[in-house]
Amino acid sequence: MIMMMRYNIEGGDFSAAGRASSEVKKTLKQFNISSLVLRRIAVALYEAEMNVVAHAWKGIMNVDIQPQRISVVIEDEGPGIEDIGKAMEEGFSTASDEVRQMGFGAGMGLPNIKRNSDEMILSSTPNVGTRLEITVNF
Ligand SMILES: Nc1ncnc2c1ncn2[C@@H]1O[C@H](COP(=O)(O)OP(=O)(O)OP(=O)(O)O)[C@@H](O)[C@H]1O
Ligand SMILES: [Mg+2]
Repeated sequence: MIMMMRYNIEGGDFSAAGRASSEVKKTLKQFNISSLVLRRIAVALYEAEMNVVAHAWKGIMNVDIQPQRISVVIEDEGPGIEDIGKAMEEGFSTASDEVRQMGFGAGMGLPNIKRNSDEMILSSTPNVGTRLEITVNF
């Protein structure tokens, strides 16, 4: 282990949204990681963080930086996802009008996380919450 970090994410708090993922990005800049890999990590973590803000009540982001990879678990308490296969489709979104007015809800977050990670494990229990594990190799 090189470094571990933990952040709280508040559902509905769009003013603080993106803080955790940008802190991780800042930390990773101290390491010798290519800008391409850094960008993939930043995109995946930002989308994961925004999904907690937009769709859940609250969550935590647990970051584990190893010599060859970063592994991040985002776990939330919220409505959960009924059909993960559907949620993974480009353009599928249940975002509220309020969330759409903030510029979110294109249904591109999860497909973007998939594209920008080397491993993505998504599991969810309706009415309980969602767990997303993202791994990106350096
Ligand atoms: N943490 C979560 N809790 C509950 N539902 C979620 C969560 N993450 C995703 N979802 C569900 O999966 C759908 C698709 O998520 P995705 O991130 O791809 O799109 P979006 O968040 O709706 O829009 P965008 O990410 O483009 O702003 C969401 O609309 C929501 O129904
Ligand atoms: Mg999203």
